[in-house]
Amino acid sequence: MKTQSCVEVKNEWGIVAARQAGRTLSKEIGFGTVDQARITTAISELARNIYLYADEGQILLEAVEKPFKMGIKKGITIISKDVGPGISDIRQVMMDGYTTSSGLGAGLPGVRRLMDEFEIESIVGEGTTISATKWLR
Ligand SMILES: Nc1ncnc2c1ncn2[C@@H]1O[C@H](COP(=O)(O)OP(=O)(O)OP(=O)(O)O)[C@@H](O)[C@H]1O
Ligand SMILES: [Mg+2]
Repeated sequence: MKTQSCVEVKNEWGIVAARQAGRTLSKEIGFGTVDQARITTAISELARNIYLYADEGQILLEAVEKPFKMGIKKGITIISKDVGPGISDIRQVMMDGYTTSSGLGAGLPGVRRLMDEFEIESIVGEGTTISATKWLR
């Protein structure tokens, strides 16, 4: 079982490949079809942002586990990494409707809603790393 994958995103095909890798891994972990769709939608939004705003980057997917009650909880972590322009005001980009392109500004707030954990680290001029995790319940 492949528990980790890294997809290069620099064109539309990379976005498709990242989605497919996310569907395969989330299915292997045991997510149902509705959660698989939530996870692939989140991956799409992050990959689309890489392509649009940073030109290129990577989507890393990882099966994760943490202790929970008497056993373990399984989940998936999506990491989006780029060395693009970075984000100066993270609070602003997390607001519904905020966009610097012709988008809806729904991507990042959407990803936060679709996943259980969400974190952005970004330095202007250095790039952006976004990490999002969803737990199996
Ligand atoms: N990887 C990134 N690097 C630099 N800026 C980014 C990155 N991802 C998002 N942003 C900035 O955050 C803004 C909001 O992103 P978000 O995905 O929420 O909306 P959008 O891409 O503008 O529109 P939508 O995703 O709804 O089509 C973007 O307009 C862009 O300015
Ligand atoms: Mg977007």
